[in-house]
Amino acid sequence: MKKTKTVYVCSECDYQSAKWLGRCPQCGNWNTFSEETYEQEAPAAKSPAARRRTLIAGSAVESEPELLTSDELPEYLRRTTGMSEFDRVLGGGIVEGSVVLLSGEPGIGKSTLLLQICASLAGERTVLYVSGEESASQIAMRAKRLGIKSGTLYVLTETNVEKILRGAEKVKPDIIIVDSIQTMYHSESNTIPGSVTQIRECAGVFIGKAKTEGISVLLVGHVNKEGSIAGPKVLEHMVDTVLYFEGESRQNCRVIRAIKNRFGSTNEIGVFEMTEVGLKEVQSPSEMLLADRPQGVSGNCAVCVIEGTRPLVAELQSLVTSTVFPSPRRMSTGIDYNRVSLILAVLEKRLGLRFSTSDVYINVIGGIKIEETSSDVGMALAMISSLRDIPVPDDVMCIGEMGLSGEIRAVSRIEQRVREGERLGFRKIVVPSRNLGKTELRVGEGTTIIPVKTVFDLLPILKREPKQN
Ligand code: TYD
Ligand code: MG
Repeated sequence: MKKTKTVYVCSECDYQSAKWLGRCPQCGNWNTFSEETYEQEAPAAKSPAARRRTLIAGSAVESEPELLTSDELPEYLRRTTGMSEFDRVLGGGIVEGSVVLLSGEPGIGKSTLLLQICASLAGERTVLYVSGEESASQIAMRAKRLGIKSGTLYVLTETNVEKILRGAEKVKPDIIIVDSIQTMYHSESNTIPGSVTQIRECAGVFIGKAKTEGISVLLVGHVNKEGSIAGPKVLEHMVDTVLYFEGESRQNCRVIRAIKNRFGSTNEIGVFEMTEVGLKEVQSPSEMLLADRPQGVSGNCAVCVIEGTRPLVAELQSLVTSTVFPSPRRMSTGIDYNRVSLILAVLEKRLGLRFSTSDVYINVIGGIKIEETSSDVGMALAMISSLRDIPVPDDVMCIGEMGLSGEIRAVSRIEQRVREGERLGFRKIVVPSRNLGKTELRVGEGTTIIPVKTVFDLLPILKREPKQN
């Protein structure tokens, strides 16, 4: 009888232990151990780490040490995917021989996006779409819905990586899509699909294939409840590019961002809209985000943040109501909760406004996430507006970061932000005074720049001068 051996592996750092541990002694994370069983007498029953070494080493051609030279280096060969928003995030297209991990919550549209990309690539390249989740007829139905004509697009519904490689030998693809890496398994590894070892080994095989044959590989990865890629953190280290596909699945706006990119920058985002017939690229995200903007309502304020190289105007909505709870509620969607608390504290302390007896809800319209602090002034104004029930004029857009003493700090790339606001029809643009000292802002006729130095300067912006406490 074959002996089986059980080890517990940390999904974050790969640490192995003979017994289950609540906290990993190597990386210090909690609840990351999962059980993995493998047969000791099986031919490949080496430890997972040893087998991975052979997988990766064995898949690469033996190379000689070379002198590092910077002359005549070939440019990365990039293939544009036909979806400029996706190419933008990658840094100009998929690099030949690179491995991209696309992760996101279930139902966000990963399979839809990849199928659309496959279709546009399949005109001139051979693409192999491997699905471990859907049947060929399901994929065909989706392709029909998206109006895709196949070209040289091959579909393979398989989860065994060896069989997939054999399939790939037959069609000799330029691009392989694996949907999803969590469903794949390697028969030499005796653990269940989705386990840390399996994910890592299967990824290792595809990475080997990409590096030796110059095939571009796109892997789909699921995220777990905490929002990180289900499976080992090492997967993120193994691949060249990690993309996150995010958005509220009930809303239509979808954003792709790069978390890691060996071939480009990580601050670009790609914006899409989910429609009846698949994902549509959004060239001007601000216009989409402002489309159903409520007018003349208190608690709303437009802000401008920079995402990658693009300015993005979004609408913040806040609702401040008297609380029925012993400790008032604070809820934020699309914006950092700690930042909301900080701004509330500044408003309480510096302006003497009382939020401590109110619930505060704050939301970014359109399901996008704002991470830049240049939205502070807009957030503050939206909350004051809701507290006082006085609308912020519809043609006001706010730019500025707020410090703890209530001072408004300068932000970068002010001209670009102001220009975007003007383009979208905002006629009163709130700008930190400190920015005006450095740059001379030129605006068109009919547009006013409202300089703000401290949080006190925000009050006169509201339609009526609010009563002082
Ligand atoms: P899907 O690509 O299956 O998500 P994932 O692979 O990330 O799990 O997309 C799922 C959702 O997208 C599904 O709920 C239906 C919606 N959808 C559309 O709205 N329009 C479309 O044209 C398609 C194909 C899907
Ligand atoms: Mg899917």
